[in-house]
Amino acid sequence: MALFRARVALALLVTVLHAQAFVVPRAGQRVVLRPWAAKVVDVSLPKPLGIALEELQPGKPAGVRVQEVREGGSAIKSGDVLPGMVLVSLNGIDCTTKDFDTIMDMLIGATDSQPIQLSFSLEVDDEQIPQPIKTGPCELHVLLPKGETMVLKARNGDNLRKVLMAGKVSIYEGLAVMTNCNGAGQCGTCVTKVVGQGWSPRSDYEANKLKGRPQSHRLACQTLVEGDAVITVRPAKNDS
Ligand code: FES
Repeated sequence: MALFRARVALALLVTVLHAQAFVVPRAGQRVVLRPWAAKVVDVSLPKPLGIALEELQPGKPAGVRVQEVREGGSAIKSGDVLPGMVLVSLNGIDCTTKDFDTIMDMLIGATDSQPIQLSFSLEVDDEQIPQPIKTGPCELHVLLPKGETMVLKARNGDNLRKVLMAGKVSIYEGLAVMTNCNGAGQCGTCVTKVVGQGWSPRSDYEANKLKGRPQSHRLACQTLVEGDAVITVRPAKNDS
């Protein structure tokens, strides 16, 4: 059974998993932040955040990452905080070389009367091969469930879900319209099919959420635009 340690403080639920976590990369696996790959997201969030954190390297002052974004907190409402993101700084203070307890103290000590300024970065597995970041505009040809098509302008690096939502594309159906996780990567209802050259493969986390579906199926909220592509919204489970 996994060793488990949990703390609740000021409605900030923070969890440390000492065994393998479901996010990628795995707890304890060495990770590095590389300037060429890091995409930093700055957010300003009031308490309670609703973010579960875990150590990057158990017992070491090597920072924390988001293990889970939970209902009821400000993070999930923002749509900008995703599992796997590394906490880079908190109210302007670098967190990448601090241990879990110190970061907890910083969170607990942050005033309730003002939002907390947080910077997150996507972390990079050191086994990944460096890829140049694509830049510039691109076009997404979107196939809608009833056969209509539309073209959306996007930029490389944009979040696919946000591009589709901005284009007023109905990416959810049924109850998921109301119950989706708002881009936190939890509900698995933002499935799209992506056919494009050079798009990164889906992560282990995404693949796990999309078990039984073809490789081309992606969680839109976990996918960054990487060039021109054809996007099928709400593809049939066997539409490869
Ligand atoms: S919106 Fe819930 S997984 Fe993408």
